[in-house]
Amino acid sequence: MNSAAPACLLRPLEARDLPLLLAWRNHPSVRSAMFRRREISATEHAAWFAAQHPQAGRHLLIYEENGIPLGHVNFSLQACPQIAEWGFYRAPEAPAGSGQRMGRAAIDWAFDSLGLHKIAAQVIADNPRSLAFHRKLGFQPEGILREHFHDGQSYLDVHCFGLLRPEWQAMKDAHHD
Ligand SMILES: CC(C)(COP(=O)(O)OP(=O)(O)OC[C@H]1O[C@@H](n2cnc3c(N)ncnc32)[C@H](O)[C@@H]1OP(=O)(O)O)[C@@H](O)C(=O)NCCC(=O)NCCS
Repeated sequence: MNSAAPACLLRPLEARDLPLLLAWRNHPSVRSAMFRRREISATEHAAWFAAQHPQAGRHLLIYEENGIPLGHVNFSLQACPQIAEWGFYRAPEAPAGSGQRMGRAAIDWAFDSLGLHKIAAQVIADNPRSLAFHRKLGFQPEGILREHFHDGQSYLDVHCFGLLRPEWQAMKDAHHD
């Protein structure tokens, strides 16, 4: 391993993370990428955590580098339990490149720990960073839900992506990961 590479870790989200998570989630750079874009109150946030936390098939994670929390990733198992949809955001002040590292670590975690066959994603068309992010990680485009989201002013397309376990393995082999 490259000695300069940070120690990357994914761990379960805990109640102590909630204030930090809320600050990230309410930052304009993050909430402008979400399906629900208005600011979230601390009360709503606590209720969300209480409702989500015990759900089977819902995995809420914090991504850390060298012990510093830098992002949030979640996986929701679908009707077929080897398929999950993911969502994520990086801390607004996270260093360049950490988003890709978080993505790779989270995909490894999901295929290894959850035994998934497929990870699916939905990206709103006004989020070029996330569109580029998914393509770079090897996600395949699976179609566009036309005018499937309203941002308060206009209807926007939603891009569907999918990544299969063998595709991820091939990506890793190609990069000697
Ligand atoms: C998506 C996210 C994790 C990506 O993080 P990251 O890998 O650190 O990278 P960046 O955000 O800097 O950009 C990712 C890629 O998009 C490109 N990009 C950035 N801004 C762009 C823009 N306005 N237009 C097109 N491409 C853009 C970057 O050049 C980079 O590609 P490169 O690595 O080939 O240079 C991060 O931007 C984030 O948390 N965004 C807010 C939350 C979010 O969008 N979540 C996903 C919802 S579907």
